[in-house]
Amino acid sequence: PLLLIIVLFINKTNIIYFCQSKITGYKFDTIKLLHKYNVYNDVKEHKYSDNLEKIINTEYYNKKNTLYYLDINYVNKEYFFDTINKLINLNYSSNDINNIYKYLSSEDINILLNNNYLKDISNILKLNYFHNENLERYIKYSNNSDLSFEDNITYVNIGLDNDYYTNVIKETDTDNILILVNKYHALDSKYVPSDLEKIDKKYNRGTNNLMRKVAKEAFQEMCEAALKDNITIYSGSAYRSYNYQLNLYNRYVSIDGKKQAETYAARAGHSEHQTGLATDIMNAKLNFISKGDKEYTWLVNNSYKYGFILRYPKDKEDITGYMYEEWHFRYIGKKIAKKLFDLNITYDEYMARQ
Ligand code: DAL
Ligand code: ZN
Repeated sequence: PLLLIIVLFINKTNIIYFCQSKITGYKFDTIKLLHKYNVYNDVKEHKYSDNLEKIINTEYYNKKNTLYYLDINYVNKEYFFDTINKLINLNYSSNDINNIYKYLSSEDINILLNNNYLKDISNILKLNYFHNENLERYIKYSNNSDLSFEDNITYVNIGLDNDYYTNVIKETDTDNILILVNKYHALDSKYVPSDLEKIDKKYNRGTNNLMRKVAKEAFQEMCEAALKDNITIYSGSAYRSYNYQLNLYNRYVSIDGKKQAETYAARAGHSEHQTGLATDIMNAKLNFISKGDKEYTWLVNNSYKYGFILRYPKDKEDITGYMYEEWHFRYIGKKIAKKLFDLNITYDEYMARQ
């Protein structure tokens, strides 16, 4: 009988399978299955896949996904096979699926399964400013936008997928010169910087003439440097208290209506002027700077050297939430100001990428 078994086994097909097993690395039984599903010829062109070998021996094997399985790295996690089938159905590539398992928790993967395909997911997951907690928002936003994947993520991080002044974050590290204040980041109504100082009369022509010490010194340094280039600039409106801003905002709303006013006036608590780090700059004729002014040209090209940035630039209105304000400059320190200048991005974008 032993001889009979040996003779039965050593038929031509089995010899072929045995050889194919040696060549491809798949187990003898797997080779049989590959033939059964008629995929051996496709599979043999590729290098051995542990993942394919495992899934083909389960009920989760789906013939039409065979080529996908080959390039997916097996991960020993619950529901792995079920999940990869679902991800493939959603249109994710094998490479996407490898990245999804590399970067996301099971909970996050479930979010993916319950949503539409997120295009560029592999690139998105590798961004250091991808925040898992925003995953659902990224998916929704990306699916309705033509922006690059970096911009989609940046915009959601800023908060732009929600209306202005929603999901507002109260800033706590208020004395940090890198503080972000915008339509999504607010200061406490009681916040008053502790180191406000008067700007030298020589460089000030407004009644709101206070800035935080470091910003004041940088501003004066900038004014002196400008003078050496025959450019005269003044601070026109620097620190404004919460209540001052409140009155200002209300006045503008009563004049222009809320919608219009909000394109140029911040709600109280949302104005950079309350940080003591911003000032609206005047030209030699004591008008607020405008783009035709030589003072404007000088500032745009040089202010970063003193740590200041044009905070609400042209063509960035949808990001900053404000109209182009040629006069509003914000101190953020030389290092970051240079970075923003080089990258030509707003402070909102910069902070959303940290
Ligand atoms: N004009 C700027 C946006 C402010 O009101 O703070
Ligand atoms: Zn301003």
